[in-house]
Amino acid sequence: MKVIIGTEEEIAKQAAQQYVELLKRKPNAVLGGATGSTPLGLYAELARLNKEGVISFKDVTTFNLDEYVGLDGSHDQSYRYFMDHNLFDHIDIDKSRTHVPDGINLENIKTYDAQIEAAGGIDLQILGIGVDGHIAFNEPGTPWDSLTHVVDLEENTREVNSRFFKSIDEVPKQAVTMGIKSIMHARSIILMAIGENKADVVDKMINGPIDTQVAASILQLHPDVTVYLDPAAASKLSK
Ligand code: F6R
Repeated sequence: MKVIIGTEEEIAKQAAQQYVELLKRKPNAVLGGATGSTPLGLYAELARLNKEGVISFKDVTTFNLDEYVGLDGSHDQSYRYFMDHNLFDHIDIDKSRTHVPDGINLENIKTYDAQIEAAGGIDLQILGIGVDGHIAFNEPGTPWDSLTHVVDLEENTREVNSRFFKSIDEVPKQAVTMGIKSIMHARSIILMAIGENKADVVDKMINGPIDTQVAASILQLHPDVTVYLDPAAASKLSK
């Protein structure tokens, strides 16, 4: 794992350069998307670079990591809505090539991994990390060979995410998520973490044992992962 530490602004800009290089080399790349607070700076930077003509997304295909069960794309807390509002509406992407797992018709998720494969596989996947080590919504204990599936969300994850809802009661109890195996198939991975509350788990991910109790620790076995941290998230690195 390559680790890069910088201010929130610096790491957003540096991570965005990986997209610039990829899209120069492969304009029709397949990108893996994430939601949450962490990638917002990166998405703003990608939109800026697109506006300035540095990169184009017109031939890009995207697949997002996850979606809440029961929320359709018009719900302002759905991950489809998040991606449209925070990225897709601000770049020259063809929205028909953007994919977010279907949180309503759960039958459709059975083909999600096959769709990714048919598109050529993910070239670059962006990830955040939960305080319990989850990547996408793969909570502690998720098997390493998991593909896209439905999960029961941990109470702690629902509590953390309730900041976006009116109350915790409105936070869905289940989500659809790409599995660990789906994520590990990506050719390159960027994981970003910001803030002190991520410091312990970031150290476990990088320096701890590879253990299903910390889903992100499996990334130690991936050949091309770049971890971007702000100084607070890097503050407990033991090595
Ligand atoms: C979101 C996702 C989650 C988040 C994680 C961190 O698509 O897959 O794993 O990346 O919960 O969330 P934030 O960035 O809000 O701290």
